[in-house]
Amino acid sequence: MYSVKQLSLLALVLAQLLAGIQCGVYDNTDNWVLGDKTKNFPENAVLGGFDPTGYNLYVARTVSGSNILPARVVAETRVGTFNTDTAVNTATSYELLVSNATLSYQWVRSYDGYREKNAVSVGTNATNDQVFICRARSDSGQIIGTLYLAQKKCYVRYGTLSLKTFDKYEVLVREQKIVNWIPYDN
Ligand SMILES: *[C@@H]1O[C@H](CO)[C@@H](O)[C@H](O)[C@H]1NC(C)=O
Ligand SMILES: *[C@@H]1O[C@H](CO)[C@@H](O)[C@H](O)[C@H]1NC(C)=O
Repeated sequence: MYSVKQLSLLALVLAQLLAGIQCGVYDNTDNWVLGDKTKNFPENAVLGGFDPTGYNLYVARTVSGSNILPARVVAETRVGTFNTDTAVNTATSYELLVSNATLSYQWVRSYDGYREKNAVSVGTNATNDQVFICRARSDSGQIIGTLYLAQKKCYVRYGTLSLKTFDKYEVLVREQKIVNWIPYDN
């Protein structure tokens, strides 16, 4: 049995360890659903572009190390991939962005890391910076990438293609619809 003193010491050590490690935190402003191959692809998943072979790419997010990063998913294969400012990877699990009756999404032209109003954030990265979703025309596709605000660039790397950076790109923004309430009649 551990004594109370030993346990509180252990808790202290753990707390210090956690404080030292910055961990990506998910942003919960929008609705994200866990990708599940056994279920139908969500009807209201948000379209983000298409890959060089013509498959549609849907907006998703994933965790990589201590970073929450944007991802893109092909509905037909359910394969999700993402890229950092250097590498491209397959996501072992991901969450798909879905719209609803009051929240919809649009791509707006942007440049140089300009902070667009209502830009969709996937969460934070290892250095506690918010991470945003961008897309650009690249290698005859329109590919969802990662917006590094500090570098003022959209980074896109897909499949075996080489890394590309864009200082002009599109950013995903949220649009909130006003629900028209039926007036109460008395
Ligand atoms: C849409 O999602 C937002 C965020 O979760 C929620 O606040 C809102 O109530 C939802 N709208 C509808 C009509 O379900
Ligand atoms: C976190 O995001 C910032 C801002 O975009 C970027 O400069 C930094 O390199 C990122 N850190 C990591 C570990 O990805």
